[in-house]
Amino acid sequence: MGGLLENKICLLTGAGSGLGRSAALLAAAEGAKLALGDWDDEGGRETVRLIAESGGESVFLKTDVTKSENVKALVRNALDTYGRIDCAVNNAGVEGARNKTADYDEAEWRKVIDINLTGVFLCMKYELPEMVKAGGGAIVNVGSTASIGGVATMPAYVASKHAILGLTRTTAMEYGEHNIRANIIFPGSFRTPMSERLFGVDTIEETVKPLTPMRRLATADEVAESIIWLCSDRSSWVSGSGMSVDGAKRAG
Ligand SMILES: NC(=O)c1ccc[n+]([C@@H]2O[C@H](COP(=O)([O-])OP(=O)(O)OC[C@H]3O[C@@H](n4cnc5c(N)ncnc54)[C@H](O)[C@@H]3O)[C@@H](O)[C@H]2O)c1
Repeated sequence: MGGLLENKICLLTGAGSGLGRSAALLAAAEGAKLALGDWDDEGGRETVRLIAESGGESVFLKTDVTKSENVKALVRNALDTYGRIDCAVNNAGVEGARNKTADYDEAEWRKVIDINLTGVFLCMKYELPEMVKAGGGAIVNVGSTASIGGVATMPAYVASKHAILGLTRTTAMEYGEHNIRANIIFPGSFRTPMSERLFGVDTIEETVKPLTPMRRLATADEVAESIIWLCSDRSSWVSGSGMSVDGAKRAG
């Protein structure tokens, strides 16, 4: 039996680290061929190397998701290499500085919104027409528990993650007739360079455990599993959905 993503062409952003790298490796193991983007050239190339090492296939293009020319080039690279795009994982994101709303630096606000919200918009803007041409597709946007709840001192992050929930639902309504599904995941905290920056490499476990009913810190691989399923045909009737992947952090 083939993998869950056998013969699928998958575009993925933020591929150079954390969840993006985990999802890329898992997608390749499930049979996908990947067109990867990240603004971190070194991280992206390392992911390609790791995929090749495990027998998979991928290409990488240095991409800043806030720049439409970069996003267009990423989509073009997928098409030139593999001919179409079946799945897109819009994962690139930043946490931004921490401060209360009235003290939040305006330039920092704009930066976080630009990457986390406009970046996802631009990716979908250029992925969708190609999926329409191909006769369908699956989009997975990476939200957060911050898509459905507040986080004190992270106003820009929370606003951006709430906004991409609305954008995902809207896209699902607009493109359902083209056999395109759009979903969003809401991960709780899991260990990556981002969460280590937020909670401290050595203190992350003890900080996150009490906030999580399952009383542990998840791995990026555990979160990546949800992305793979939402990309696959096994989730064929799931669209416009938000999936919590958080050890019951947001239960109830
Ligand atoms: N780690 C967590 O606990 C957690 C929880 C909930 C949601 N998330 C979300 O998961 C996603 C991945 O985060 P992560 O934890 O793997 O973080 P990470 O910092 O390890 O990886 C993020 C990747 O995105 C890339 N990136 C950032 N801005 C970019 C841009 N403008 N253009 C292209 N690439 C860019 C970075 O270079 C990096 O490789 C993010 O959207 C994040 O908000 C993470």
